[in-house]
Amino acid sequence: MGMRTKTILCIGAGYVGGPTMAMVARQCPEYRVLVVDVDAARVHAWQSGEPPIYEPGLKELVAVSLNRNLFFSTDVAAGIAEADIIFVSVNTPTKTFGRGAGRAADLQYWEKTARQILAHARRDVIVVEKSTLPVRTAEAMERILRDSPADVGFEVLSNPEFLAEGTAVRDLENPDRVLIGGHDSASGRRAIEALIEIYAHWVPRERILTTNVWSSELSKLAANAFLAQRISSINSLSAICEATEANISEVSRAIGMDSRIGPRFLNASVGFGGSCFKKDILNLVYLCDHYGLGEVARYWEQVVLMNEYQEDRFVRKIVATMFNTVAGKRIAIFGASFKADTGDIRESPALRVCHALIEERAIVVVTDPQGLLNARRELAIYGDRVLFEDDPYAAACGAHAIALVTEWESFRTLDYQRIYAKMEKPAFVFDGRNCLDHAALYALGFNVLPVGQKSLIHQ
Ligand SMILES: NC(=O)c1ccc[n+]([C@@H]2O[C@H](COP(=O)([O-])OP(=O)(O)OC[C@H]3O[C@@H](n4cnc5c(N)ncnc54)[C@H](O)[C@@H]3O)[C@@H](O)[C@H]2O)c1
Repeated sequence: MGMRTKTILCIGAGYVGGPTMAMVARQCPEYRVLVVDVDAARVHAWQSGEPPIYEPGLKELVAVSLNRNLFFSTDVAAGIAEADIIFVSVNTPTKTFGRGAGRAADLQYWEKTARQILAHARRDVIVVEKSTLPVRTAEAMERILRDSPADVGFEVLSNPEFLAEGTAVRDLENPDRVLIGGHDSASGRRAIEALIEIYAHWVPRERILTTNVWSSELSKLAANAFLAQRISSINSLSAICEATEANISEVSRAIGMDSRIGPRFLNASVGFGGSCFKKDILNLVYLCDHYGLGEVARYWEQVVLMNEYQEDRFVRKIVATMFNTVAGKRIAIFGASFKADTGDIRESPALRVCHALIEERAIVVVTDPQGLLNARRELAIYGDRVLFEDDPYAAACGAHAIALVTEWESFRTLDYQRIYAKMEKPAFVFDGRNCLDHAALYALGFNVLPVGQKSLIHQ
């Protein structure tokens, strides 16, 4: 008799669960990979081969394994009953109520999942925390699972995901490292080995790192905190540049060539967004406070405050430059997603800029190659005070200003002469990502206001 095919289950078919499991299925054809979610619309989209999220290369990746060894379903209980390894990749948003509101992680989806696993598991199972969680969450999971009535053994591992949206497929294919946190016991080591075996199908062993569970949980928060901190640091300097005629691009280049600092994540901008950075830092802040480490908490909190300051500053500059009023003026917002190559608008600076300009009674017209559907839903509360255009030329037609807030490559290569001809004059470009050719725009007649660089204003 042949060996039973092992089943890998992933609970949560979102930005992390879907792409990660598509990669596992492709790399490990001898496993059956099942992804379950309570969101039926999402599941149907995955099943149809049209992923519910936009990610370069994802559709092709899914197509390789879909209905061969990669399956999607809404039946969470049945999935758990079959599983040998369960990845939990449900959302862990910031709590909006009660103690820790606005900072702590809301673990209700997480705990619900733990209880479902307990109720439906039929054989010994390894539970892998894929979601980003506060340090020591695995302990809570273990305590719930320890009450198993069915005499099922559980081992909990932490295996945080480091993919970045927009480059998820590339990141999964070729990760800088895979981090696995587990307990130093016989069953803990066996579980770690089982998970290593999966990743070792395509990730070189030396890039698979094992640590204790708490280090692994903390490392994910720490990585995001460091990345966001770099952005806030460069953005803080961009404010000094605007006050002193230093140029932030020159400063970035000069410090980035220091091999101790390195060149990445040094672009000044309107600020960072996405579902993770702010949430994870606030989570870290909450943890620090919880452990009585007030100074540490305040230190990291400042990264988020600086980001909010930068967004505010961007909007204030728009209003101040446009003669202190944008009321009734059409402003084209180039970008809705929180960064290029994704349709994800969660915590997008673009949307916060929209909110602020709508408050100022501007007529906001949003254009984005992938994020419009989500943006429409998010901004529906404003009714006809906000418009949506697939075509950036149509968005800018009749506008007093363009605010570029997402660094889509397609925005760089537009025919700005054609755009300028159809705009109200004086025409302004606020380049919140410093990705356009400022001198060329100025020569066309635009007034150009970058971040952390001298404004180019026609007198
Ligand atoms: N998005 C990223 O770039 C990224 C990167 C690294 C880590 N993470 C972390 O991964 C986790 C998931 O993030 P995401 O962006 O994929 O979230 P997401 O909201 O896109 O997906 C989560 C999915 O889980 C489903 N879900 C929730 N509770 C469920 C339950 N009890 N049973 C079945 N399904 C359930 C939801 O319906 C949703 O589709 C978060 O903890 C996040 O911090 C995200």
